Amino acid sequence: MVKIVVEGDASGAAARAAALVADHLGAHPRPVLGLATGETMRPLYRHLVALHRAGRADFAHATTFNLDEYLGVGADHPAGFAAFMRACLFDHVNLDPARTHLPRGAAPDPCAEAARYEAQIAQAGGIGLQLLGLGQNGHIGFNEPGSDFASVSRVVTLTEATRQANARAWAPAPVPLRAITMGIATILAAQSCVMLATGAAKAPALARMTGGAIAEGCPASALRLHPDMTLILDAEAARGLAAA
Ligand code: F6R
Repeated sequence: MVKIVVEGDASGAAARAAALVADHLGAHPRPVLGLATGETMRPLYRHLVALHRAGRADFAHATTFNLDEYLGVGADHPAGFAAFMRACLFDHVNLDPARTHLPRGAAPDPCAEAARYEAQIAQAGGIGLQLLGLGQNGHIGFNEPGSDFASVSRVVTLTEATRQANARAWAPAPVPLRAITMGIATILAAQSCVMLATGAAKAPALARMTGGAIAEGCPASALRLHPDMTLILDAEAARGLAAA
């Protein structure tokens, strides 16, 4: 069962998602958050930082695991997701840096790193609330179309469409060809999932996610199998629901 929330604009949708994260932090003594990067998440993190400053989002006992990181990219790379997270969230809230986790994209053995990351999530007791964005091709994390629903954290090859969608952060350098991502099974194991999707460009993927077959061709369709999944949209993205 997917619970769908539609707000008028992208900022309202981001605020709604940020409030769910703040509620989760308040409701759990040792919260474990799964975090996402991407343009959609920027306003969500701005709202979350504002909630923190207002005393309504306490990260003191939180642990975080990000969905993914590009292969070959170290924590200090300016186009990497670790840098994104520091700039958007980690540097602005009371999160212990030692409890923030991303796959180590520059690890010498990426496959071993993916396995280590999966084990680290399990050791933390699993993810309580997982934030997700939506790729225009239906990907979640960097689980591209065709990804097995039973997949766990692993090394993946990015599609050309995904590399193009992320080109701006990398220009003039090319976007890396591969990444380490949590798997679809890793994501589905979270106690609750919250997807934020905004803008007209996401409407076709939302139509496939919510109205098409639950199948590997649209990784996001797997979320329809999750018992506690909330989809937060703005009005533009929600047009995809009508098309579903
Ligand atoms: C990012 C991630 C991706 C993005 C998706 C949407 O950690 O895992 O699945 O959520 O590509 O990205 P934006 O928000 O830039 O459209």
